Amino acid sequence: MHLGLLALASTGAASSYFPVTEDFRPFGPGYNHGAYPQDFGIVGPPNLQAVHDSQNPPTGLAVDSEHNVYLTYPRNMGQTPVNVVRCTSFNDEQPWPNAAIQNCTDGQDPSTCFVNVQNVVLDSIGQLWVVDSGFPADAEDGANALYGGSKIMSFNESSGEHIRTYAIPKEYLQHQMNANDVRINNTLGGGNGYAFITDESTNSSLLSVNLDDGSVIRRLLNTSVVRADEKYVGSYDGNLIYCWNKTEIGYCTTGADGIALASGNVYWGVLASRRYYFISQEAMTDSSLSDDDVLAAVQDPGQCATEQAGFTADKHGRVYILASEQNAIYYVDTQQSEVDMTVNGVQPGGEGRVPADRYVVKTLVRNGMIQHADSAAILDGWLYFNTNQLQLSPDRQYNNTDNRKGPFRSFRVWIGRGPAV
Ligand SMILES: *[C@@H]1O[C@H](CO)[C@@H](O)[C@H](O)[C@H]1NC(C)=O
Ligand SMILES: *[C@@H]1O[C@H](CO)[C@@H](O)[C@H](O)[C@H]1NC(C)=O
Ligand SMILES: *[C@@H]1O[C@H](CO)[C@@H](O)[C@H](O)[C@H]1NC(C)=O
Ligand SMILES: *[C@@H]1O[C@H](CO)[C@@H](O)[C@H](O)[C@H]1NC(C)=O
Ligand SMILES: *[C@@H]1O[C@H](CO)[C@@H](O)[C@H](O)[C@H]1NC(C)=O
Ligand SMILES: *[C@@H]1O[C@H](CO)[C@@H](O)[C@H](O)[C@H]1NC(C)=O
Ligand SMILES: *[C@@H]1O[C@H](CO)[C@@H](O)[C@H](O)[C@H]1NC(C)=O
Repeated sequence: MHLGLLALASTGAASSYFPVTEDFRPFGPGYNHGAYPQDFGIVGPPNLQAVHDSQNPPTGLAVDSEHNVYLTYPRNMGQTPVNVVRCTSFNDEQPWPNAAIQNCTDGQDPSTCFVNVQNVVLDSIGQLWVVDSGFPADAEDGANALYGGSKIMSFNESSGEHIRTYAIPKEYLQHQMNANDVRINNTLGGGNGYAFITDESTNSSLLSVNLDDGSVIRRLLNTSVVRADEKYVGSYDGNLIYCWNKTEIGYCTTGADGIALASGNVYWGVLASRRYYFISQEAMTDSSLSDDDVLAAVQDPGQCATEQAGFTADKHGRVYILASEQNAIYYVDTQQSEVDMTVNGVQPGGEGRVPADRYVVKTLVRNGMIQHADSAAILDGWLYFNTNQLQLSPDRQYNNTDNRKGPFRSFRVWIGRGPAV
C-alpha cells in the first residue's frame, strides 16, 4: 500500500527512535523498579505506525519497491479464500498476482497454482517469491506435501508476471517436509543465486536451491539445531502455551521457521525453542560436504529468550528477530563495524564478521501492539511486520478454542536502514 494511505501514523523525528536502547526508561525518576503494577517497559516509539488491518491472520509479509504490502493467508488451519494478496488500502486487499492462481482446480498440476503459500519475499532484483508448503487445507495427518505443490515461485514485482517455479524434488518431501519460509541471495555462486528454505516439520531441515539448475540439497535433517526442544512450553502475554488436542495436553514440535540472510550467513530460528543459529551460505550450498561437516559448520550464538517465527536483515548486517514471547522485535549486529559495545575485551568498531561467542541480542521495540509478529521486511528505512496472535490459535489453546481476536494489524517502525542484499 502506498504511503499516503497510512493510518494511525505517529509522526516525529523518526531517526531519534534508533538506537532505541536509550528509550528504555519505563520508570520515573526516584522510583523503585517495580513500585507499580504497570511497571512494564515499552521500548521504541509508543505508537507503531499501523499500515494494514486484516480480517484473517496473515503469516507472510513483503513490501515492494513502491511500499505496496503483500500478505499471505495460509491454509494450515483450513481453506482461505485467497492465499496471497496485495493491500490496496488500510482495509482492502486484492488477490495477487491474480484470482485464478489462488486455488488449484481438480486435476491441475499443483506446481502451477497456490496450494498453501506461507510467505512472500522480495529479492534484490525486483522479483517477488512465494514459498508454498504444498499441504492442501484438507491434508491427512502424516501425509507428505504434494509433489509440485511444495515449491518456490518467482514473479515480476511490478507486472505480477510469473517468471519461474522450482519444485522441491520428491525425495525431499519425506517425513512431512514442510517448506515454511524462504530467502534469496541473487549473487551467491555467480549465476542466478540461491534460495534457502526452512522446513518446519517435526524432523525439520534446511534446504538450499540452486536457482540456475534447480538442484536442491536438504541439510541438517532431524538434527538438534533444527528440532524443537523436548516438551517445549511457550509463553504469550503472560500465559503459558501448550499444544492441545481438545483437552489432551501436548507440546508443540515446530522446527526451523524464520530465516534471514546477512553477512554471507543463513540465520534461522527453531520455533518451538528459544534457540537460533547461523551457518555460512557457502557451507549450505556446497554439495561436496558431508552432513556431518555441515552440522559442524553451524554456529550457536546462544539462546534468545523467545520463540521466534520470523527473521529479517538489513544492509549493515543487522539481523532482526521477531520475539513473540516478548511482544518485541530484537536485533543483533553481525558486522564488527556496527558493534557499539566492548565485548570480551574487543572494542566497538573494527572489521569482519562478529564471531558467535560475541553476539549480543538487543531489543528494538517492545509493545503490546506486537501480538506475535510473524514476518518482516525492510524498505527505505522502514521495518514492516505483520502480527497474527499465533499462540491464541486453536492448536495452542485449551480444547482448541480459537482465542484470536482480529482484525490483525500490520505495522512499520523506523530503523533508518535498507534491506540486506
Ligand atoms: C478458492 O476456493 C474457495 C473454496 O474452496 C472459494 O471460497 C474461494 O472463493 C476461491 N478463491 C478464489 C480467488 O477463487
Ligand atoms: C518486470 O516487468 C517490467 C514491466 O513489465 C519490466 O520493465 C521489468 O524489466 C521486469 N523485471 C523483471 C525483473 O523481469
Ligand atoms: C521423522 O523421520 C522418521 C524417519 O526418518 C519418521 O519415521 C518419522 O515419522 C518422522 N517423524 C515425524 C514426526 O515426522
Ligand atoms: C530424530 O531425532 C530424534 C531426537 O533426537 C530421535 O529420537 C529420532 O530417532 C530421530 N529420528 C531419525 C529418523 O533419525
Ligand atoms: C487427537 O486425539 C484423537 C483422539 O485421541 C486422535 O485420534 C487424533 O489422532 C489426535 N490428533 C492429533 C493431531 O494428534
Ligand atoms: C550473498 O552472496 C554474496 C556472494 O557470496 C555475499 O557477498 C553476500 O554477503 C551475500 N548476501 C547476504 C545478505 O548474505
Ligand atoms: C470442548 O469444546 C466442545 C465444543 O467444541 C464442547 O462441546 C466441550 O464441552 C468442550 N469441553 C470442555 C472440557 O470444555
